[in-house]
Amino acid sequence: SRSIDLAVIPGDGIGQEVVAEGLKVLSAVLPEDVKLETKEYDFGAKRYHATGETLTDADLDALKKHDVILLGAIGDPSVPSGVLERGFLLKLRFAFDHHVNLRPSKLLPGVATPLAGEPQIDFVVVREGTEGPYTGNGGTIRKGTEHEVATEVSVNTAYGVERVVRDAFARAQARPRKKLTLVHKNNVLTFAGHLWTNVFNTVAAEYPEVTTDYIHVDAATIYLVTDPARFDVIVTDNLFGDIITDLAAAVSGGIGVAASGNINPSRDFPSMFEPVHGSAPDIAGQGKADPTATVLSVALLLRHLGYDAEAARVEEAVTADLTERQGKPARSTSEIGDALAVRVAG
Ligand code: IPM
Ligand code: MN
Repeated sequence: SRSIDLAVIPGDGIGQEVVAEGLKVLSAVLPEDVKLETKEYDFGAKRYHATGETLTDADLDALKKHDVILLGAIGDPSVPSGVLERGFLLKLRFAFDHHVNLRPSKLLPGVATPLAGEPQIDFVVVREGTEGPYTGNGGTIRKGTEHEVATEVSVNTAYGVERVVRDAFARAQARPRKKLTLVHKNNVLTFAGHLWTNVFNTVAAEYPEVTTDYIHVDAATIYLVTDPARFDVIVTDNLFGDIITDLAAAVSGGIGVAASGNINPSRDFPSMFEPVHGSAPDIAGQGKADPTATVLSVALLLRHLGYDAEAARVEEAVTADLTERQGKPARSTSEIGDALAVRVAG
């Protein structure tokens, strides 16, 4: 019989609340013969304050045994900036080689967008997740003086670029529009830019059905606002992907609905699924957080594990819920989760 062994990391702030709803929907959508086993981990600000630990080697060993990870949000104003980001989130992404950071943007019915008219938004960003300026390959000299020099080197390997570009081509090939846009800045970042462009063009030759396109990242921010319909699949580096996916979330309904997957397609290590939003300490514990982004992350999780029909049911439930939400009073976190659980079960 089938089973899913899930590591659950609620984390900080609203992470706790939204993950509970994500699990509710996951349990409701799974067929009876699929055994769902969950184990909760206490990573985050509380544990850091209590023990000074963010993510130990023993933690990584424990997490490694699971099929997949569901994360709420990690971060709290009481912890200095960078400690949990580098010590937990990036450490996990790097340790488990989550090189495909998948961030779909779809403007769903009933969801407000700041864009004028009725924009068509349905694209997915494949953000490289283990290289670029995120590697921590930097340094400083003359620190603290007026002549301080700081470098933060963008690392781009042929291996790392090729595998993420290949993943993006395969995703583009599988979508109806079959279009892939490379976003970079090859007019200025000529070394990294040329590696990306060369790899992109080489792999493109294997995908004659995929229409390809190149846009500088600055221009991409314009098109994301003025003409988001031009995008189908975007592939880009870690930092450009970080920035444009926040913009993508903003134009397609905000972080309340933005889902993401930190994926290792090889399945050598568990992939991790998380809402794009953070821990929102200002509204934590009040039942105000929208669990939709987490529920949509559960859909990505299901698809990653091969439960395509169940993933589709979750997405359909969210679409129906958002449509019916229009003009109704706001519901609590758990009311939304309950409504979605009922829909996916029915
Ligand atoms: C994200 C976040 C992280 C990133 C931070 C918290 C390290 O902004 O998931 O997009 O930059 O990748
Ligand atoms: Mn980000």
